[in-house]
Amino acid sequence: MSIIDDILAEKDHEKIRRETETNYREYVNPFALRMFKNASLDIIEGKREGACVYDISGEKYIDCVTGAGIFNVGRHNVEIVDGLKKAMDVYDMGGWISIIRERGLLAKKLAEITPGDLKFSLFCCGGGEAIEVAIKLARAHTDKTDIICMENSYHGVTGFALPATGRDVYKTPFEPLTPGYSHVQFNNIEAVTTTITKKTAAVLVEPIQGEGGILPADDDYLVKLRQICNKNEILLIFDEVQTGFGRTGKMFAAEHSNVTPDIMVLAKSISGGMYPLSCAVFTEEISDFLMAHPFTIINSFGGTSLACLAALATIEYIEKNDLPARAEKMGARFMSGLVILKEKYPDLIMDVRGRGLMLGMEFSEDSIGPRMAFQLRQNGVISIYTFNNPSIIRIMSTLVINEDEVDFVLNAFDLSLKEINAQEERMAKTT
Ligand SMILES: Cc1ncc(COP(=O)(O)O)c(C=O)c1O
Repeated sequence: MSIIDDILAEKDHEKIRRETETNYREYVNPFALRMFKNASLDIIEGKREGACVYDISGEKYIDCVTGAGIFNVGRHNVEIVDGLKKAMDVYDMGGWISIIRERGLLAKKLAEITPGDLKFSLFCCGGGEAIEVAIKLARAHTDKTDIICMENSYHGVTGFALPATGRDVYKTPFEPLTPGYSHVQFNNIEAVTTTITKKTAAVLVEPIQGEGGILPADDDYLVKLRQICNKNEILLIFDEVQTGFGRTGKMFAAEHSNVTPDIMVLAKSISGGMYPLSCAVFTEEISDFLMAHPFTIINSFGGTSLACLAALATIEYIEKNDLPARAEKMGARFMSGLVILKEKYPDLIMDVRGRGLMLGMEFSEDSIGPRMAFQLRQNGVISIYTFNNPSIIRIMSTLVINEDEVDFVLNAFDLSLKEINAQEERMAKTT
């Protein structure tokens, strides 16, 4: 018996919970554990299947967090797992100081499925790391330094990505940060035009702000951004870390407005939630720096054999099952239910919005987001408010969710809102 056999064989869920919480308290982060508990997200994941995740105790939940868009192809997609099992019989992850066949195959596939003339891919592990690559490429290609970003954006917390993230709480403790970043109001073209200077290298934007509160960019906003960037010889970077791979009803959210960025950043769902992978995909025109300096933006673990196989199998699954169309259909079903709930609870719900299966419900005050997360868990659904805006709860299920499961989630929202409404009424009476 190996240690893996031992770990997988343990079925006493009380023992697993005690041991895991102790290890978190003693060796991981006791404050993170407390926050998970407070947010009612202290689920220790056991079985994962389709649209659902099970606590080790066997409690079943529909996953409406999906790691903010990691599990587009479903939790523990068995088709992808079966392929990877075969690969693991013969491969390790692959050495990075060699030429990797699977990396070439994946880069070719990404060039085919990404919009316009996006062509080359540089691979890393996390979303933040790929944002850093995009910023480095933009600075190197334009020989300019400054990046225009959006207020309330989220692009990760690593070196060059952190200053791009539009919320101080992530940044202030680590100042001084790399200079050259400015933040302007999202969906406001004039704010961008008045911020451009001779030093501006790129504009960085999420086509739908995820952690900012599920805020879609207006279609003509992205079109105008493209025009302004062209006019001023500035690069346009789309962060499709949450929106990519079918989530919004198209393979990439950029397609809704028919705009091709110069660099598109992909992560999370790219490899089916089976193996870490991210990448920056960019046009041939801006590959000039890399051609001259092929080993200056490098890493050991990005684009390994196993990661690329996982991504190829994920893209195959998305295409074969037309998951973008499914996201659009199930998203529409969700949206009609959410609109009814908004009419039913007008004092609690300010707005419901989003695209495909990237949806959000905005509440009349911040405290309702965390309370909803708690109530939803009691009703068999896991969801969490957006990081930069606790008044918005996200609905980002897997894209394999079916009609019955959508209806189950809507019913759970109804029951949870009913309870919160009753709490509000009780509080109003006592004050
Ligand atoms: C839009 C967006 N960009 C970048 C990132 C950073 O990705 P990672 O956490 O993999 O570094 C995230 C993470 O949630 C994200 O939502």
